[in-house]
Parts: sequence; C-alpha cells; structure tokens
Amino acid sequence: MGSIDKKLFTPGPLNCSLSTKEAMLKDLGSRDETFIQTVSDVRRELLEIAGVSEHDWTAVLIQGSGTYAVEAVLQTSTPRGDGRVLILANGAYGLRMETMCKVADLEFDSIRSSEILPFNISQVEAQLTNGKVYTTVCIVHCETSSGVINNVEEVAELVRKHQPLAFMFVDAMSSFGAIPLGLTNIDFLVSSANKCLQGVPGFAYAICRKQCLAKCAGNSRSLSLDLEHQERNMIETRQFRFTPPTHTILAFKQALQEFKAEGGLQGRGDRYAANCQIMKRGMIKLGFKSLVKDEYASNIISCFFYPDHENFKFKTFYTALSDKGEIIYPGKVTDSQCFRIGNIGDLHKQDMDRLLVSVEAVLKEMEIPVPVPGPVL
Ligand SMILES: Cc1ncc(COP(=O)(O)O)c(C=O)c1O
Repeated sequence: MGSIDKKLFTPGPLNCSLSTKEAMLKDLGSRDETFIQTVSDVRRELLEIAGVSEHDWTAVLIQGSGTYAVEAVLQTSTPRGDGRVLILANGAYGLRMETMCKVADLEFDSIRSSEILPFNISQVEAQLTNGKVYTTVCIVHCETSSGVINNVEEVAELVRKHQPLAFMFVDAMSSFGAIPLGLTNIDFLVSSANKCLQGVPGFAYAICRKQCLAKCAGNSRSLSLDLEHQERNMIETRQFRFTPPTHTILAFKQALQEFKAEGGLQGRGDRYAANCQIMKRGMIKLGFKSLVKDEYASNIISCFFYPDHENFKFKTFYTALSDKGEIIYPGKVTDSQCFRIGNIGDLHKQDMDRLLVSVEAVLKEMEIPVPVPGPVL
C-alpha cells in the first residue's frame, strides 16, 4: 500500500507513518486485557520520555484534542473559591488559556507580551512579587502560532521561589518529545498524541506530579475535564470513565516504538532540527524573511513574511502548493502578514527538499521573481 497523502507542513494534524496507522486496524473492547495493558504501557512510556519517575508522577490520558488537556489542567488545578491563575501569553495558545478561564469563570491575570520574543524575566518577576497569590501559573513551551520557544525553566524557577504554593503548568503541546525540558520546577505538562510523538489525533495527556494532582479533588467545574477523577478511576478500575479512544491508543503504542527506534528525544529532535535547517536555508535563499530571530526560534515551526509583490496572494500560493501535494499554514500573529511552515511529523530530508522545489515552482507560476522582494512589514 503506497502512500499518496499530501505532506503536512503544519502545526497539526501531522503526517503519521503507515505502520502507525495500520496499528489501529483492530477493534478492541475497553475491558480487553490487550487494551488495558497498552494503556498502562503508554502511560509508563510517557513518563520515561518526560524523564520522571513513576513513583512521583503519573500520565493521565484524556479524550479529545490538545485543547482538552490544557483546559483540563486549568479546571483541575484551580480551587473553587480562592483560585487565581496567572497566564503568560505571547501568542494564540497563551491567549486561548485566557479564554478558557473566562468561559469557566476562573479568576486570572495575564502577562501579555511580544509574540516574537520569549518572556522578559524582570516583568515576570515583578508580577510574581506584587502581593497577589496564584494557585496555578501557566506558560506555553513552543508558541506554535509564531514558533517562539519560551524560557520555561527560568520562569518555573522564579515561580517556585516567589509563589511556592502555586502549581506550575506548561503547555508543551508542540515540543514534548523533541525539545528537552527539565521538570524540576514543573507540576503539570500537557501534549497530545498527534504532535512530536507522531500518533494519530484523538487524545491528549497530562503529565502530573502525583502530590499536586492529589490536592485537586473536587476542583473541576467540568465532569469530563477532571484529571483527578480520570486518574482515580483509572487506578481503581483500570478503565477510562467514558468511551476510550481505543484505536488511537493502539496507534500511539506503535508510534512510541518508532520514536524509540529513532533514538528517542535526541533522535527525533535531531531530525526535526535538520528538517528545519534545510527548509529555513532554502526559504531564505528564495528571499523569504523569518518573523522570529533565530535565537528565539524553535525547530518545530517557522513563520515567514509575505513577499512584497503585487502578485502574492496567500490563498493562491497555498492552493498551488496544495496542488503539488504540500500543505502549509496561514500565519497566526497579530499585525504581521506571514505564513507558517512546520517540519514535525513523519517528514524527512527528501520532503523538505521537495517542498522547496515546489515553492520555487509556484513563485514562478505566480510570476514573482526569486529572490522574492520584501518583506511586507
Ligand atoms: C502550543 C499549543 N497549545 C495548544 C494547542 C491546541 O491543540 P489542539 O488544536 O490539538 O486542540 C496547540 C495546537 O497546535 C498548540 O500548538
């Protein structure tokens, strides 16, 4: 069976290997021993990847996309009554946490800062020492809307120092499994099946410090997004509370085997870094300019300004690339005319090389000279 899928240079959904997709061609009941064992293996392997012990940590699987896990941590970790969340927002995913707090009526403050820079540590420290007490502090590791990689470990250390009772929460959706992160000062971390671990979409997971999760019973205002209850039920019955994503978990188990075979975090991270380097070098050679400076940029996704040429229309560019089998993504940064190219998922050197050939061909079709003029600032 050959693959005719388009290549997804996006933040997700991402390409998966054929063997990962084949692994889910099986119907298992939720009480099937094979399935129960698979869930247990997956939970243990997630902790191994995170570099933390089973004694102190647990990986809670939750049905749905990544957003469900982010919202589940906010719901679960924020006490009723005196809960107050601090959100560090320098992009769309930080801002989405604000929306979640508004919708659930959770008290929150936020530090909003430039979408193309990591956080200013003095600004964060000032907020943490202004007399307010926070119950959870949240940050996104790789802001996938821009590709900026945030200074999470530095922020987490400050949170421990100035707000020792607060839970530290990291949305590592697009970085977990490819960019190392020390969890010493972190209590909750989330990601989802179809990001750097290259499973199929359908569930997400929260890696939780057990002693923190145990303090969260009864906090959640949502039945389905209650991580503490999800965990307690799993321990007591070995079951999900509601219909489990059986096929997706079988695929994930296979994806984790492939992750190990590639050399784990190091091997996966190296491939993504190589993909990113090939793509960025090629785009810069074609005249495109990056939105984010290299020193702040991840190896996950990159933003490029539109060229300053009257023939450049993103929709035309997108459609012509899609016709050639390459899917890119619109930008998501306020005030900047840009598009994004991701390099995670089952993408390899030859895919990055082919993308660059396609981009050059499309520019030619659009009668835009190379190197492209611009950027549109
Ligand atoms: C950093 C980050 N947070 C949250 C999300 C939301 O995940 P989903 O779209 O799977 O709900 C994404 C999606 O790409 C993301 O990159």
